[in-house]
Amino acid sequence: MNTIYEKVDPENIDMSVIGKAGRIIREGGLVAFPTETVYGLGGDALNPESSRKIYESKGRPSDNPLIVHIAEFSRIYDIADKVCPEAKLLADKYWPGPLTMIFNKKPVVPDETTGGLNTVAVRFPSHPVAREFIREAGGFVAAPSANISGRPSPTSGEHVLNDMNGRIDMIIDSGECNIGLESTIVDFTSDVPMILRPGYVNEKMLNKVIGDVAKDPAVFGRELTGQKPKAPGMKYRHYAPKGTMTIVSGETEKVIAYINGQIESKALGAKIAVLALSKDVTKYRGADLVVDMGHADNDIEIAARMYDALRRCDDENINVIFSEEFNTPDLGMAIMNRLIKAAGHNIIKV
Ligand code: TXA
Ligand code: MG
Repeated sequence: MNTIYEKVDPENIDMSVIGKAGRIIREGGLVAFPTETVYGLGGDALNPESSRKIYESKGRPSDNPLIVHIAEFSRIYDIADKVCPEAKLLADKYWPGPLTMIFNKKPVVPDETTGGLNTVAVRFPSHPVAREFIREAGGFVAAPSANISGRPSPTSGEHVLNDMNGRIDMIIDSGECNIGLESTIVDFTSDVPMILRPGYVNEKMLNKVIGDVAKDPAVFGRELTGQKPKAPGMKYRHYAPKGTMTIVSGETEKVIAYINGQIESKALGAKIAVLALSKDVTKYRGADLVVDMGHADNDIEIAARMYDALRRCDDENINVIFSEEFNTPDLGMAIMNRLIKAAGHNIIKV
């Protein structure tokens, strides 16, 4: 398949490109598009054939449901049942934005889109290109992250091109995503709202609007619990770089000493990378690649760099990766959730 590749400036959107993308979706095709979190791989959410194509093009297991993206709040009532007042409050505060909410689904949403579940995940993204595209596409775009299943999520048009070229009809490239981590997912289908995936909208931000929320215990622990996560996608070995990754936790000086010791002892044969805060970058001599993850007081930057860092390790054929811990107050939970998964729960305390 020949993939159309178009750059669209979010500040000056070329509506002829968006019109073409919308037509492709309405005719049952697939288009990758930017959002404020990560790039999405879009298809018509109400067309079962489109959802089947999404699974196929990503190599994604078909029991892993897709998020339905809307571009106007009122459209939620077309696809979701029992939208409770708490959900409405969250939407008022954080939509459009990096938040996904789960409700019982209406029959118009095909089982193919929800992986056979009777619930539907809904998100109203804030990225201007995403919003225009969803409108032109008919209002309901099913979209997982636009990566090959198992690869880190794409946060630039180039990442999407590397993974999806030749597999989908079109890619809209609007540069780098601001947030760089997938949306927070909150489930409203049980008694207490529950966070199924941490993201930019953190627990404190949710508490402020709707009070207490539960957290899926299978997702939030640092250790593997053996429990089944409620968001089917969270069970897969996602975000995995090709190399073996270890997170080193502890006081900074000890972490640096431990990693340097490992670099020395593994220097023969292995290609080693370290993911480090800016202030520590020069301290890891002897590593083949030291990725500057940014500053601890700017965790947006750390989040935005993370998937690119993992992809760089792959591009440079790194086989051993060490990472510092990035337990910042706001985004730390979301960042470490992805990193711990990338490391296959391989954490060393020093
Ligand atoms: O930021 C995001 O959410 C991005 C952009 C493109 O919007 N999308 C994204 O989609 O991350 P994906 O498919 O990579 O992750 C969706 C997650 C999966 O873990 C899936 O299992 C879960 O949401 N999910 C979707 N529908 C669900 C449902 N009805 N019940 C429980 N989990 C659901
Ligand atoms: Mg994904």
